Amino acid sequence: MLVTGDYILSRASEGNYAVGAFNTSNLEITKAIIEAAEEMNSPVIIQTSQGAIKYAGLKNLGSIVRKMAEDASVPVALHLDHGTDFNVIMGCLRDGWSSIMIDGSKHEFEKNVEVTAEITKIAGAMGVSVEAEIGKIGGQEEHIVVDEREASMTDPAEAVEFVKLTNCDSLAIGVGTAHGPYKGEPKLDFDRIETIKGLLKMPLVLHGCSGVPEKDVVKAVSLGINKINIDTDLRQAFAKATREFLDSDANEYDPRKILTPGMNAMKEVVKTKIKMCGSENKA
Ligand code: G3H
Ligand code: 13P
Ligand code: ZN
Repeated sequence: MLVTGDYILSRASEGNYAVGAFNTSNLEITKAIIEAAEEMNSPVIIQTSQGAIKYAGLKNLGSIVRKMAEDASVPVALHLDHGTDFNVIMGCLRDGWSSIMIDGSKHEFEKNVEVTAEITKIAGAMGVSVEAEIGKIGGQEEHIVVDEREASMTDPAEAVEFVKLTNCDSLAIGVGTAHGPYKGEPKLDFDRIETIKGLLKMPLVLHGCSGVPEKDVVKAVSLGINKINIDTDLRQAFAKATREFLDSDANEYDPRKILTPGMNAMKEVVKTKIKMCGSENKA
């Protein structure tokens, strides 16, 4: 069934577990995510970036995910990931996304509050949940200097003020993760997660979770993270399985046969992540 992001995340926050949020841009990825969630009896969040929407078309991608979500035996939210473009956000609201991220994190505090509050007002009136971000999800520089690392981290007092002024439903925080493959081991600021959760007691979101060691994710979840964003791990599993299949059979030309190993590989990754999040049997 299709549900809002808040339906899934408020339960996760109360139950002290997290739910995986996986990026999709097509039928095969969506199918892999939903089948895995159904087999694990877990709620799941399927998210589309603005780039994915540009690639597939907003109405096409919305129709695929919405239909499969409605028919699923587990709760599924259709979420816009890193929404920065007002027109795309409005398009998603019109076309049945049940959750929106407004990402104003590149702005200074006041401007971030302004763009975020505008979206929480509109989406709230439509019954759609809003994720916002304060702090920064790092880049992938290996030797980030201490000052830079500190500057990208969410300030707990600022986070409290931000939530009060914007009324967002969930909050993405900067605690040391980065998008894409890691060069070294990520160093998460666990104390910061605990402090922010203690002050806010609301669903917290961790971006850039591909490649973060399982023990670190489990610890982050135990301290209050409720949404674990994963994209790169699925892309890499898909690419590896597809490459192996094509290398093993140079004559196959049926797209359905070529895409199936990659789809199955993504499904296995989603299952592993669901276990790691602690959302198995929480549907
Ligand atoms: O956080 C970003 C996601 O991995 C989406 O990436 O903009 O390449 O679709 P994308
Ligand atoms: P990764 O690709 O690093 O897993 O990040 C995903 C993400 O944060 C999507 O918003
Ligand atoms: Zn992200």
